Amino acid sequence: MLSKEQNETLTQVGPNKPMGKLLRRYWHPIAASSEVEKIGTTKRVKLLGENLVLYRDKSNNLGLVGDRCAHRGVSLEYGFPTECGIRCQYHGWLYDQTGQCVEQPNEPENSTFKNKINIGGYPVKELGGLVFAYLGPAPAPELPKWDLFVRDNVVRTIGYAVIPCNWVQIMENSLDPTHLEWLHGHYFEHVFEQQGRPQDEWKITKHHLKIGFDEFEWGIIKRRVLEGQTEENEDWAVGHPIVFPSMLRVGDSGAHSFQIRVPIDDENTLHFWYTCFVPKEGVQAPEKYPISVYECPIKDENGKFVVDYIDGQDMMAWITQGSVADRTTERLGTSDRGIIMYRQMLQRELKKIENGEDPKCVIRDPEVNNNIQLPQEEDKFSEGGLLSGVAKDWNTRYAPNLDEIIEICKGGKVTSNL
Ligand code: FES
Ligand SMILES: [Fe+2]
Repeated sequence: MLSKEQNETLTQVGPNKPMGKLLRRYWHPIAASSEVEKIGTTKRVKLLGENLVLYRDKSNNLGLVGDRCAHRGVSLEYGFPTECGIRCQYHGWLYDQTGQCVEQPNEPENSTFKNKINIGGYPVKELGGLVFAYLGPAPAPELPKWDLFVRDNVVRTIGYAVIPCNWVQIMENSLDPTHLEWLHGHYFEHVFEQQGRPQDEWKITKHHLKIGFDEFEWGIIKRRVLEGQTEENEDWAVGHPIVFPSMLRVGDSGAHSFQIRVPIDDENTLHFWYTCFVPKEGVQAPEKYPISVYECPIKDENGKFVVDYIDGQDMMAWITQGSVADRTTERLGTSDRGIIMYRQMLQRELKKIENGEDPKCVIRDPEVNNNIQLPQEEDKFSEGGLLSGVAKDWNTRYAPNLDEIIEICKGGKVTSNL
């Protein structure tokens, strides 16, 4: 249980809030590269409570500046990118990548008025099919090259959803191993029963005999021993990590996945499911195969949560805790010790910032930032590649080319024009 003040410190992401300052020390993905591939494209984004416009200028560079023109406040989402910046559609003021106004076409030629105008601009970089932004103090650290972003011979998909709740309750779900046997096990069986589907289609209802959490260089490794398993099984021996502060790595030998939680503001989170499907041994994935980008539905046409897939179940659990979970009334038990460990880690890292130090996972050394390997079990629940077999019960069922991806991974041909 937390006090109201502790809960606010944990969850508030604005520029002057402690957690907002911590989160600003990291790069966050704000779009798929394919969304802003075309020169002249603009996209309105909100990150850490700040309204921004992402654009691709005529020199093929991405820019990210404040959403509102300083003149009379129209949204630059409708601005038009130039050779080196974005011009307001209303009266033509031009802003460079730092948000500095560099032209005011209807002011006297020698006016210095424009020099006083800056709407803010932030660095952006692309990696692995995603566009990342950094809103923190200069100099920006390295954009981490986590293994899945740079791995060869995989087929990638990017699912996303805008989740109407605070990012911390999504992360806490990732430090909560036992929900697997309930939310994705017994509850899944109930959903199958309601749908008239055979319940033995899905079986991860095994009881947790043991759970464990270990801090490592990049975050926390989560481990479990299920009924019928021992500590020799990879679910315990290897486990899988949350990468500090806002990413989960899951999957198995068939598909590896990052779940990236991007705080939009205190009450909304942009969620990415970034998946790399692994072709079977000896099979080569086609080079330059496009990354499909798809939205994962939260609710159906009747306004009910879509709970017949794993990620839909998770979203239901995250969102129904409230837009910001009220931790003043929670009752944590021994099975919640991963959540407590994560909260303590956040508090510890907040202190580092206060002391002028870099927090955990801020990488400055380019030598370190080279295909950073993250541990993850290949043999999940001792089923030998469960995820690849259940891609249709996972968010990837919304990938328009899922059937083709499975074919490719088995060694089949590409037939679509994607
Ligand atoms: S409102 Fe943007 S130039 Fe006038
Ligand atoms: Fe889950």
